Amino acid sequence: MAKISKDVLEAVKHLQQGEVIGIPTETVYGLAGNALNEHAILRIFEVKNRPKFDPLIVHVANLDQARDFVLEFPSNALQLADQFWPGPLTLLLDKKPIVPDLLTAGSQRVAIRIPNHPLTLQMLEQLEFPIAAPSANPFGYVSPTTSQHVEDQLGDKISFILDGGPCAVGLESTIIGFEAEKPIIYRLGGIRLEDLESSVGRVKLNLNLSSNPLAPGMLKTHYAPLKKIMVGKIPDLMTKYQHKKIGIISFKEDFKPLNGSTQIILSQRGDLNEAAKNLFSALRIMDQSDIDLIITQRFPEKGLGKAINDRLHRASS
Ligand code: TXA
Ligand code: MG
Repeated sequence: MAKISKDVLEAVKHLQQGEVIGIPTETVYGLAGNALNEHAILRIFEVKNRPKFDPLIVHVANLDQARDFVLEFPSNALQLADQFWPGPLTLLLDKKPIVPDLLTAGSQRVAIRIPNHPLTLQMLEQLEFPIAAPSANPFGYVSPTTSQHVEDQLGDKISFILDGGPCAVGLESTIIGFEAEKPIIYRLGGIRLEDLESSVGRVKLNLNLSSNPLAPGMLKTHYAPLKKIMVGKIPDLMTKYQHKKIGIISFKEDFKPLNGSTQIILSQRGDLNEAAKNLFSALRIMDQSDIDLIITQRFPEKGLGKAINDRLHRASS
């Protein structure tokens, strides 16, 4: 069992000793360690059971600190950083040699962001090194959005979790890289595409699923819960699987499930931000219940609906 606490100083101490701990961010909880310490990095891969070809995101307290690890910010990157940091935006930029190759899985680019969570920002400000933090789930499972989620799956492997309450965004950060200064989205996430485009103009999407070590590791089953998950028209799926115990995850509608089946409505008022915030918890609850399969729907293709659909698509394939 890990100690779950709001004590930032204690988190700082663990990290200074080279340990790996759970930390909150506005997106999802992270599994944090000193990004410049190879032992800590190796420990992150080990605790997560993550292949070493899948690189880690670096978290810093401010733009000045980011400059210590990045060769240069293209003007578009600077504009995005100005507008969205601290926040759910990760920039893929050319790294300085000080960033360990182990952390970037051999790539010359480093993924970096300033998270927007008060406790974690306080923590980062007190550290003299940046923090590597993948989502704090075992490799291939749904990301955690509460300290209890982290405890449930990794509590026997780490000694401390900084408790920052439920994550406000609930989806991982949006990852953006640049080719000849042009922004390219590699992972849809907590920033709405509409907001990105009103900042830097049209942005290309490259969500190609790849296990190429030098490309963003968007492995296809990355967000899968253990139970089978079907995405489609909920009433049709209910008919099709009427002899099974189903768990319905709907956006806003009540489908009144029968006999042994259950339902979680992500946002009764039809708010995509609220739905995003509740999605991963809902998947976990369904996974732990005694239903046979999860059925859910496609969400509106706007705002965070796009990123929700992306996660559901990966989880169901
Ligand atoms: O919201 C988030 O980004 C959370 C919180 C904890 O910050 N972190 C997170 O990390 O989602 P992780 O490791 O679960 O997902 C990061 C993704 C992975 O698919 C990884 O392959 C990709 O970012 N990535 C990291 N560094 C990269 C690099 N140097 N080049 C290409 N892809 C990279
Ligand atoms: Mg992850």
